[in-house]
Amino acid sequence: MDWGLKNRLSRIIKPHNNRALMLAVDHGYFLGPTEKLENPKKVIAPLLRHCDSLMLTRGVQRTSVPAETDTPMVLRVSGGSSIIGEDLSQEDITVSIQDAIRLNASALAMSVFVGSKYEYQTVVNLGKLVSEAEQYGIPVLAVTAVGKELGKDARYLSLACRMAAEQGAHIVKTYYCDNFEKVVESCPVPIIVAGGKKIPERDALQLTYNAVKAGAVGVDMGRNIWQSEHPVAMIKATRAIIHQNANVDQAFKMYKKLASEDSQKKSKGKKQNKKKPNQNKSKNKPNQNKPQPKKN
Ligand code: R5P
Repeated sequence: MDWGLKNRLSRIIKPHNNRALMLAVDHGYFLGPTEKLENPKKVIAPLLRHCDSLMLTRGVQRTSVPAETDTPMVLRVSGGSSIIGEDLSQEDITVSIQDAIRLNASALAMSVFVGSKYEYQTVVNLGKLVSEAEQYGIPVLAVTAVGKELGKDARYLSLACRMAAEQGAHIVKTYYCDNFEKVVESCPVPIIVAGGKKIPERDALQLTYNAVKAGAVGVDMGRNIWQSEHPVAMIKATRAIIHQNANVDQAFKMYKKLASEDSQKKSKGKKQNKKKPNQNKSKNKPNQNKPQPKKN
C-alpha cells in the first residue's frame, strides 16, 4: 500500500486499536434538511472533536466546518436522486477528484446499490472511483446502501460488502444484522457499521457493541447521535465502547450521567436567559443627558 493511502487510512481507522468512530452528517444529499440536522454547522460544532472522522458532502464541508479543524473528512462524492424521486439507486459520481483534493479529503465515499435497478452503474462507478482515487493515494469507502425492496440480512449484506471489496473499496460501510460475523468474515477489507434510524440510546449503544464484537472496526453513526436529546453525551458513550472497550452498561451509565449534566446546564442557561432582558433594560436605559444615536 502506498504511503499516502496508508497514512490517510490511519487517520480514519486508528492503527493502535484498529477502531474507528465516524460521524455521519451527509444525509442532506438525498434527504434535504433531515430532522435535527437542519443546521449542520450547529450540529457539527460540539461533536467535531469527539469523532475520529466526519462523513459529509462538499457543500456542508465548505459552509459548516472550520477549515482549521484536525478532524479528517470522509467526503461523499456520489448523489443524484432524492427521497421523493423515482429511484434512490440512480446515483453517479458528482465530485471531481481535483475538488476532493482541494478539500483535503482523507477518504472518498460513494454508495453501491447491489440488487437494485442501478446496480451495474453504481458498481462500475465504484471501480472507476477506486482507480482514480488510488492514483492520488486516497482511500474509498463504499456504502452498501439498501433499497426499499431489499432485506438487510447477512446473505444480502455479505454479497454487497464482498462485491464492494472486490472492486477495490478500502473500507465498506454496511448495516448490522443477525450473524454479522459472517458478513465480516467474508469481506477482506474493514467494515464499519451505519447506525440507521433513531432508536433508544441504550439500543444504539448495544448495536455499536455488537458490531465491534462481531469484528467491525466501529460505527459511522449519524441519526442516533445528533437526533439524541444529548448528542455530546451520546457520542462520548459510543466512543467509550469503540475506543475504551466499555460494555453497554458502562457506556449507558456514562450517557445518563452526561445527559443529566447537560439537562442541568440547559435549564440553568434558560433561567439566566429569562433574567437577562430585565438586566438589559436597566443597563440600556437611555442616558437622557447624552445625545442618542438616530434610529433608521
Ligand atoms: C446514508 O446513506 C448516509 O450515508 C449516512 O451516512 C448513513 O446512513 C449513516 O448514518 P445513520 O447512522 O444515520 O444511518
